[in-house]
Amino acid sequence: MAKESPEPVTAVIETAGEWLPSALGEVEECLDRATGRTGPLAGDASATLRAGGKRMRPMLVLLSAGPEGGDRAVRSATAVELVHMASLVHDDVLDRAPLRRGRPTVYAESGRARATDLGDALFAEAFGLLARAGDDAAVAVLSETTRDLVTGELVQRSQAGDMGLAEDDYLERCRLKTGSLFSASCALGALAPSPEGGPDLESLAAFGGAIGLAFQMLDDVLDISGPEERTGKAPGTDLLDGTVTLPVIVAIEREPAIGTVDLDRLDRESALELAGRIEATGALDEVRGRAIALVEEAKRALDGTPLPEDRRTLLDLVADGVVLRYS
Ligand code: IPE
Ligand code: IPE
Ligand code: MG
Ligand code: MG
Repeated sequence: MAKESPEPVTAVIETAGEWLPSALGEVEECLDRATGRTGPLAGDASATLRAGGKRMRPMLVLLSAGPEGGDRAVRSATAVELVHMASLVHDDVLDRAPLRRGRPTVYAESGRARATDLGDALFAEAFGLLARAGDDAAVAVLSETTRDLVTGELVQRSQAGDMGLAEDDYLERCRLKTGSLFSASCALGALAPSPEGGPDLESLAAFGGAIGLAFQMLDDVLDISGPEERTGKAPGTDLLDGTVTLPVIVAIEREPAIGTVDLDRLDRESALELAGRIEATGALDEVRGRAIALVEEAKRALDGTPLPEDRRTLLDLVADGVVLRYS
């Protein structure tokens, strides 16, 4: 794992048998090789890769596949993380974000053109990896998800600055931009031991989608509450960018005057002040509570599925990690 593993990840690795850290190690090697293939962009790619990252999605692939997942699971886990990294590099251009994984973003350090190119190169590496292995089923799952992801990002742009954004529209955007890659991670894992897909593919995909949605809700809380030393991202980036999130929607319900703020006119200082006003309404606790409830529901949905108990325990730990996360 790049950098020191954050607590929720460590808990899963320590509980799992030797197979999980060993498979995660293989994923890191594959990631190194893939980013090394990005030619003139390899320096930026490897800086982004080495700066950290929780590797939540590769872990979901590997756990959904189980100890018999073999090379196919490692490959899918690598491809998922490459798509994730590509989407982050592009997302930072769209969000004009200064920090990622505790370092300046590729966009901030090397500019829009290199960030756009690097994201493209990482997408190409992800699909190339699966295509070279002839894994058409994985290509199909990952390309559909990538389409959802970019749709989610586009929807987010079209919603920018809308203080009247409806909660359902927010949730749908989060399902697209984040839930879908979590869901696909589980589905790809479930494909690995048996090409036809195991009987638990659908429930695993639903589990992934639900914890992914909770993950984004909590990420949106972290954008307001920070702190930067823990998240590795600049607090208030969403507000400055006009991105209206659930904490904002709930805060407006509780204090309608917040809805009259023009996000376009914010600077870093007034964004942090607005973050304080949002927090003072108690909106962050409400969103946290809802995310926790969603995670509990997702875990219960795995009851009765034909998952061996040890893997079920590990998936529950990943779900708990979504709630406990601070970065
Ligand atoms: C960040 O994802 C993007 C969101 C969906 C909120 P992560 O928080 O998993 O990013 P890394 O990989 O750990 O940096
Ligand atoms: C998630 O949204 C981004 C992607 C799914 C690519 P955010 O914009 O909230 O993610 P961060 O906060 O930049 O990591
Ligand atoms: Mg962003
Ligand atoms: Mg965010």
